[in-house]
Amino acid sequence: MINYKNNRTFVEGVPLDDIIKTQSTPFYVYSQSKITKIFDELKKTLDTEIFFAVKSNSNQAIIKLMASLGAGADVVSVGELERAIMAGVQPQKIIFEGIGKTKQDIALAIKNNIRLINIESIDELERVNEVAFHQNKKINIGIRLNPNIDGQTLDKISTGKKTDKFGIDTEKLDVINKVLKESNNVNLIGISCHVGSQIFNISVFAEIFHKMKINAQIFLDKGYDIKHLDLGGGLGVNYHQDQETLNLQIIKNEIDKCYIDVPYQLSFEPGRYLVAKAGILVTSIITIKNNGGKNYLITDAGMHTLIRPALYQAHHEIDVINKNNTQNINYTIAGPICESSDIFREDISLPKQEVGNLIIIKDTGAYGKVMASNYNSRGFPGEILIRDNNYCVIHKPLNTKEFINQDHIPEWLT
Ligand code: LLP
Repeated sequence: MINYKNNRTFVEGVPLDDIIKTQSTPFYVYSQSKITKIFDELKKTLDTEIFFAVKSNSNQAIIKLMASLGAGADVVSVGELERAIMAGVQPQKIIFEGIGKTKQDIALAIKNNIRLINIESIDELERVNEVAFHQNKKINIGIRLNPNIDGQTLDKISTGKKTDKFGIDTEKLDVINKVLKESNNVNLIGISCHVGSQIFNISVFAEIFHKMKINAQIFLDKGYDIKHLDLGGGLGVNYHQDQETLNLQIIKNEIDKCYIDVPYQLSFEPGRYLVAKAGILVTSIITIKNNGGKNYLITDAGMHTLIRPALYQAHHEIDVINKNNTQNINYTIAGPICESSDIFREDISLPKQEVGNLIIIKDTGAYGKVMASNYNSRGFPGEILIRDNNYCVIHKPLNTKEFINQDHIPEWLT
């Protein structure tokens, strides 16, 4: 999404140095044409309904863009549900997942007449039935199953093994059936699963398709009118520049091999795949120092802006804007937070830098801004969307005053 012309760095047709004149770092930049291209390719290849996993990037401008491209929204909290509705997603294109839905959350989802609430436990099924009863409605539901599949991805983002907290154990199908028969205010029409994020192994996708087909058939055989089979998100993204990309056509071939003449619609709910590669984080160097022979570039972005490297040891490619110096130095890029884990990259060779220069952290369109915090009482980054030669600030940076003012000192301490 970045291109270089006459010694200047551009996102689409906008030079980053133009944005810097009015916006203070750090900030995220997203490319509309890149998101559009990725979405169109995914939709065309898989040829199923796509629900954008809002948790990966929940800015309303991004949700609206996805909706305009034809995506629905997969939400996991009332906050995400409200964002999707405010961004104009049609309620019938919203599915509500998540393992901790309260009665209030369920009531809001039912009131908004969304496509499906995906149930993740037996007690949630009873709760949804009760709330629907109180609203005097019979509502459509889906069930998220735990198919006991190892996503062969990082443990921290693996969700489909038997002992993980997500979904309902497929060995409990009889109990689900019994409770469903006693629940007069719900109508089961969907089955779903999600076994993890950042999946590359095609055999994992093949196993998901195979097991979920069997599960859907069990419900069909019991007389349920299953109309939707949601195969989750998890499509992997190449964060290393020399890493191979996921081959969507092979996934499509597996789908076609598995699902022949089935009576339900297939769907996916990807997040990362749609936005990761369409975003960068722009940050400034605030200090350059050498400790014990190690050269540090300390940036104004840190684990409070992008937590993935500190939390998952995730890899992000890094580039510098100023490449004028021909001397290369091995730098460790670190944030300003008082934690040793606040490091973006160790020992990478870059042209010699000066304080004030800009650094780009790539492929940060997914799980970047949404996971930012104000740890160390630092501000939240802004977000900018670029289309051709134009840019728009789609989220103002939240300065420290705005959240410091939310503190309240009790009278007894004054
Ligand atoms: N559906 C469900 C039910 C999910 O839990 C998730 C992600 C998705 C879909 C979308 O998965 P994706 O297509 O984005 O892989 N913060 C982590 C990723 C956590 C993913 C959580 N669930 C990271 O930065 O890598």
